[in-house]
Amino acid sequence: MAQSPRPGAEDDIQDLLRVAHAAAVLAHSPYSKIQVGAALVSTSGEIFTGCNVENASFGLTICAERAAVAKAVSAGVTSFRAIAIASSQPHPLMPCGACRQVLREFASDLVIHVQGKQGPRVDTTLAELLPRSFGPSDLG
Ligand code: THU
Repeated sequence: MAQSPRPGAEDDIQDLLRVAHAAAVLAHSPYSKIQVGAALVSTSGEIFTGCNVENASFGLTICAERAAVAKAVSAGVTSFRAIAIASSQPHPLMPCGACRQVLREFASDLVIHVQGKQGPRVDTTLAELLPRSFGPSDLG
């Protein structure tokens, strides 16, 4: 059975989603016009944001989640407990497969909150979104 999200204070979740929505506004997305923001929380409580960064060579696009991971790791932080993902879409824009795998590198038990511009929120976990995953320990 899928792991349920760790209990988090509702106010904290809403605050984190607000940070993610603010990050989405900074998106460089002239091609899709979709704005995505991520707010990644380290185990010590630091928050790293990211937005999607598109490129005229479309395949070079970087998703918001991976931008946040790169920001954190390049600041020396590699352990995370939660991520909020917000977008300009009306529905919750779930993290793509590539982002799920990149998040898995650093946190197999990440709590994930996803929200669109309006409407319902999805509270889930990386274990639920990427079951029976491949990870660093498989190389050992
Ligand atoms: N996008 C993200 O930022 N994160 C995801 O997990 C899925 C997709 C972005 C990439 C691109 O700029 C736009 O959404 C449409 O694919």
